[in-house]
Amino acid sequence: MSRSLKYEIPGVDPRLSVADVAEKGWDAVFAAPRPGGTGATPGRRRVLEIGFGRGEFLLAMAARSPETEFIGIEISFKRTLKMARKVARAGLGNIRLLEARAEVAIRQLFRPGELSEIWINFSDPWPKARHAHRRVIQPGLVADASRALEKGGTLYVATDDVRYAHQIDCVLSAEKTLFNQYAPWPFLPEVPGRITTGYEEQWRAAGRPMHFFAYATTPRADLR
Ligand SMILES: C[S@@+](CC[C@H](N)C(=O)[O-])C[C@H]1O[C@@H](n2cnc3c(N)ncnc32)[C@H](O)[C@@H]1O
Repeated sequence: MSRSLKYEIPGVDPRLSVADVAEKGWDAVFAAPRPGGTGATPGRRRVLEIGFGRGEFLLAMAARSPETEFIGIEISFKRTLKMARKVARAGLGNIRLLEARAEVAIRQLFRPGELSEIWINFSDPWPKARHAHRRVIQPGLVADASRALEKGGTLYVATDDVRYAHQIDCVLSAEKTLFNQYAPWPFLPEVPGRITTGYEEQWRAAGRPMHFFAYATTPRADLR
């Protein structure tokens, strides 16, 4: 028996429309007064998570860093709705959510250098060769992500899939504006202190290997 979706938001709705962001920009979005909001304070760090899924990672990051502005982009209406309910229930005023295709949103809705970090955790591996073009990590998205990052800003990518890890390594290392923070290794199998995501917990329980990548816009950045 399928459970029916709950549409009401128990507090302030953190969702935005693409048209709204395109018209106002992120500065105005975060400056708009709301209960528990960060308010208009220029110079705050701004962090994006692409494909937040059930939202564990974004919720934990936002609770840990109340001074930082967090944006979550998720293609699924249902996941965005459920996450909006969680954000409202937690009273986290520093998160905004966008139901959108990340490849389009990152190209159209971010000014150069306006993000400090971008996280892409366990994006769908699309294991069949004929579906590989559907993977989120592609040269175009990585170039757009690099453009949206500030000087020293970092793109973090994680996967449990060995073949996808190989593609991620190839795409990231080919992007000349980004620098591997874990060099000489292409990725790390563990990163102490890192917040665990929902899918990561499942894959770890299944014994799957972890691959954590970190690429910054400068050769050395402060890693988290
Ligand atoms: C495998 S889940 C991982 C969820 C979460 N990051 C985690 O690690 O638990 C991938 C998520 O990315 C979302 N997604 C897939 N393609 C996307 C796209 N092009 N733009 C934004 N989100 C996308 C899916 O709806 C799904 O929620």
